Amino acid sequence: MTNQAPVAWVTGGTGGIGSAICRSLAADGYQVVAGYHNPEKAKKWLEAQKADGYDNIVLSGIDLTDYDACVAGVKEISEAHGPVSVLVNCAGITRDGTMKKMTPEQWHEVIDTNLNSVFNTCRSVIEGMLENGYGRIINISSINGRKGQFGQVNYAAAKAGMHGLTMSLAQETATKGITVNTVSPGYIATDMINNIPEKVREAIRETIPVKRYGTPEEIARLVTFLADKQSGFITGANVDINGGQFMG
Ligand SMILES: NC(=O)c1ccc[n+]([C@@H]2O[C@H](COP(=O)([O-])OP(=O)(O)OC[C@H]3O[C@@H](n4cnc5c(N)ncnc54)[C@H](OP(=O)(O)O)[C@@H]3O)[C@@H](O)[C@H]2O)c1
Repeated sequence: MTNQAPVAWVTGGTGGIGSAICRSLAADGYQVVAGYHNPEKAKKWLEAQKADGYDNIVLSGIDLTDYDACVAGVKEISEAHGPVSVLVNCAGITRDGTMKKMTPEQWHEVIDTNLNSVFNTCRSVIEGMLENGYGRIINISSINGRKGQFGQVNYAAAKAGMHGLTMSLAQETATKGITVNTVSPGYIATDMINNIPEKVREAIRETIPVKRYGTPEEIARLVTFLADKQSGFITGANVDINGGQFMG
């Protein structure tokens, strides 16, 4: 069964930033497919979205670290809702530690979830986008992929690697109606930040020129802008959205 609305697949859709992206794209008329990892949390999350009137969001628990699972998952999404027009790679984890203490498991888990997943999802949607002559891919990186961060060699490497993929894929698809961009948020007020002790949060806030944390809705607004048909001249770009904390 196909549906008229263009399909947007948001990995990590149930997270702090992902939720705002899903809601913004849903409000913009997309059929949104929200990726998750934790099925219990995802079920409750979807109920909350429906209670808020977002009827055009469905869940998808594709294992992003498994290439075959991504290919099969994209086939299922396409059969149920139509081809994926917009892919937002927003799933991400941290497993922090200095190089001296970091285990190979911490390294591989972050590279698999934050970077290898991006190959798996992009590779799974790209043939469909090329056939349709249209697509929008938006990769959610991080300020820490731009400047590095103490205790995050794994995370910063994955997030910087994401933009290398963005620029290369953007060149490969530039004449095919497909744009590929990176969005690099600074500190955003999600649970990740809200759970930090207030004293530390305040110290971090002081390092941000605008003197506040960003909101998930601000990231969602940028993603929705890049996802729009009219944003076709923006490709291969990294857009920093960090309150002036890093200007590179
Ligand atoms: N928050 C910030 O300040 C900030 C700043 C810069 C960049 N970012 C980036 O923005 C993105 C979203 O961050 P957030 O703060 O919204 O994080 P979050 O609330 O922890 O959300 C992360 C999302 O990724 C999903 N996920 C985690 N592991 C997964 C896996 N193995 N397979 C599939 N999905 C998985 C989670 O699913 P479950 O909820 O089901 O586990 C959740 O939907 C991340 O890529 C992060 O690196 C965040």
